[in-house]
Amino acid sequence: MNICVVGLQWGDEGKGKVVDILAEDCDIVVRYGGGSNAGHTVVIGNSRFALHLLPSGSVRQDVTCVIANAVVVDPEVLIGEIDGLAERGISLDGRLLISENAHVVLDYHKREDQLREESLGARKIGTTIRGIGPCYADKVGRSYAIRVGDFRDVEALQEKLKAVLTYKNRLFGALYGAEPMDAEAIFEKCKGYAERLVPFITDTTEFLHVSVDRGKSVLFEGAQGSLLDLDHGTFPYVTSSNSSSLGLPAGCGVPARMVDKYVGVVKAYTTRVGAGPFPTEQDNDVGNYIRDAGNEYGTTTGRPRRCGWFDAVAAAYSVRIGSVDALVLLHLDTLTGLKELRICRAYEVGGRETTFFPANITRLAQARPVYDALPGWDDDITEVTTFAQLPVNARNYVQRIEQMVGRPIEMIGVGPKRSQTIVRA
Ligand code: GDP
Ligand code: IMO
Ligand code: MG
Repeated sequence: MNICVVGLQWGDEGKGKVVDILAEDCDIVVRYGGGSNAGHTVVIGNSRFALHLLPSGSVRQDVTCVIANAVVVDPEVLIGEIDGLAERGISLDGRLLISENAHVVLDYHKREDQLREESLGARKIGTTIRGIGPCYADKVGRSYAIRVGDFRDVEALQEKLKAVLTYKNRLFGALYGAEPMDAEAIFEKCKGYAERLVPFITDTTEFLHVSVDRGKSVLFEGAQGSLLDLDHGTFPYVTSSNSSSLGLPAGCGVPARMVDKYVGVVKAYTTRVGAGPFPTEQDNDVGNYIRDAGNEYGTTTGRPRRCGWFDAVAAAYSVRIGSVDALVLLHLDTLTGLKELRICRAYEVGGRETTFFPANITRLAQARPVYDALPGWDDDITEVTTFAQLPVNARNYVQRIEQMVGRPIEMIGVGPKRSQTIVRA
């Protein structure tokens, strides 16, 4: 069985936890997009892992991990992560494969990300400043791109970097009055990266096809969320990759039909980091309650996350574009203690109700959420292990989301730990 796990909101739905759980029955876990803008948390007992580039399956010693072609790889972050896991007794030797065609994020990408965001003032996107947009822009522009495979020939890489830095320095100087960056210093770092990473570099598309032919089961780990998808999200307040499951085929060379099941992950409410429209946002006591109870601070940047009610219109849209078969609902425990809960079942746009999400920010800005109100619950649910043990109001809340989104909820999170998960299959 090949499964894709994808976030259906604006990221941070809890994909790391779900991938960790499902990886138990898989041989291979693949990251097919994004870069170190992602922050995926896995909590096992008292150990907490925050992964940015390594697939969340990495914490399981028997899983092979693939960083596929559409991931943008920051070597510094990746090497730090490999070493960090090794220090905790988890080795990636012999079980990490990095696509030779994946693009490399270097210091000038992060610099450009920062310079551009600063220059935008109120129009800034609120990126993670991890160099994601500039690196994908270089990929699309082709002429100044560096790929992981370039680490195999450092002499050629040195020449390439000279040309790249000449171009970037002229650009940054002219646009932002920035100090030039030193090509040699960046090259020296790259030599170190090459020494460490070359043993992992391969043709991951071939590896995945051969593995599937041999009956291996593959888990595809989405990064970010469907509403941050470059083409189908809330542009321009999105990331620079196809972060919905539509990015999977191009992102790793495996056709969509080779995936048996698409699992969509949602929180029992909605969060968003950075700028952009968020119709159900609660910039008030309710939002503050959720942020405190759910510890809603960014895994990558530590920024407080914007919080709001569950948006069934948005989730149903992500289900449609992502061919999602089933849902996982996390953070149900976070809602404990709220007297009344709301679910957005439709939008009112221009005096008419619609249940189709307008992924166009001008129309989305006009959308007014139409809510159903449901009673909350007070009982602590963090130790609950079966659906039947949940308070009746919690069960009703889950079932109402299932009805509105139109897919079964197969797992429910009642706490961050691997063990705090109700499986309903
Ligand atoms: P990802 O980017 O989708 O992998 O999600 P993040 O790791 O950025 O954010 C999810 C956060 O919620 C992490 O801190 C998780 O440990 C935590 N988490 C996941 N599931 C649950 C849950 O059911 N309840 C609670 N309280 N926390 C959860
Ligand atoms: P995971 O995988 C939440 C957001 C940023 C910003 C926008 C663009 O942990 O769910 P970028 O740095 O990608 O150019 O920023 O996208 N963003 C995320 N928000 N979770 C993520 O990843 C995100 N990755 C990017 O906050 O609004
Ligand atoms: Mg995250």
